[in-house]
Amino acid sequence: MVKLIDGKAIAASKRKEMKLKVDELKGKGVNPGLAVLLIGNHPASISYVKGKIRDCEEVGIHSELLRYPDTISEDELLSEIEKLNQNESIHGILVQLPLPKQISERKVIETIAPEKDVDGFHPLNLGKMLTGQDTFLPCTPFGIIEMLKSENIEIAGKHVVIVGRSNIVGKPAGQLFLNLDATVTYCHSKTPSLSEHTKQADILVVAVGRENLIGADDVKKGAVVIDVGMNRNDKGKLVGDVSFDSVKEIAGYITPVPGGVGPMTRTMLLENTIKSALMEIGGK
Ligand code: GUN
Repeated sequence: MVKLIDGKAIAASKRKEMKLKVDELKGKGVNPGLAVLLIGNHPASISYVKGKIRDCEEVGIHSELLRYPDTISEDELLSEIEKLNQNESIHGILVQLPLPKQISERKVIETIAPEKDVDGFHPLNLGKMLTGQDTFLPCTPFGIIEMLKSENIEIAGKHVVIVGRSNIVGKPAGQLFLNLDATVTYCHSKTPSLSEHTKQADILVVAVGRENLIGADDVKKGAVVIDVGMNRNDKGKLVGDVSFDSVKEIAGYITPVPGGVGPMTRTMLLENTIKSALMEIGGK
C-alpha cells in the first residue's frame, strides 16, 4: 500500500516547534524578522506571499510585506534591498520571484546580504551548500529532505532522479541529496528517453511544471515520488506534475498536490529566518 506523505501535517508540527524556539529567542532579546518584497500584482505571487506572512504570524516571527508597482526601476528596488540589509530588525529578506522584465533577477539576488538570504539563492550560500558548509538551504529542496527525514526514509545509497534543473529547485535538490550520500541523476527537457531514467529512481523528484508529465509507466514499484509541480488544470484545480491517481498504485510513498511539498517550502523559510536570528546571538 502506498503511503501519502502529508506535507501539510509535517509542516504544521514543525511550526509548533518553531514557535517555542521563537519564544526562546524573544526571551533572549532577539525578535526574528522577515521582509517579503512583492513587485507587481501577479495573482499566484500575491497568494504565496500572503501565505508566508500568515505563517510568520503563527510562529511569532515579525514580518513586513513591502509592495512595489511593477514599474519600479531596478535601481530603486536594489536600494530598497540595501536599506533592509542595514535594518537590524530584519533577519531575512525574500524577494518574490518572478520579477518584471526590467529587473535583473541575478542583481537582486546578489544584492541581498548573504547573511539575510533566507531563500538560499545567493551564489555565496549556494557555494557553501555545494561544499557542504552550514548555510541557508533553498526552501523547497530543504523541505523535501525534511519530509523524507520525518518519514524515516533512507537517503544514503539511494538512487535519486531529479526531473528539472531550475536554480531554485532541481539543481540544489540534487546537490543536497548528493551531500547526503545519494547517487543522483539529473534529467531535463533535453533528456532523451526520460522514462528510462525515472523508472530507475528509488526517490523521484519532479519539478518541471507540466501536468501529467510522470505516469505509472515512468515509476518503479515502491519508489518514493516527490511532486514539486504546481499547475492549474483545465478545471482550474491545482495539480502537480505527477498523475497522482495512477502513480499512487505503483509508488511506495507519494506527496499530494496541494498539501505536499508546498507547505514544507513555506515552513523552511521560517526555519531559515530563525536560523538567521540565532546567528545574531552567535547561536546555532
Ligand atoms: N517564487 C516561487 N518560488 C519562490 C521561492 O522559493 N522564493 C522566491 N523568492 N520566489 C519564489
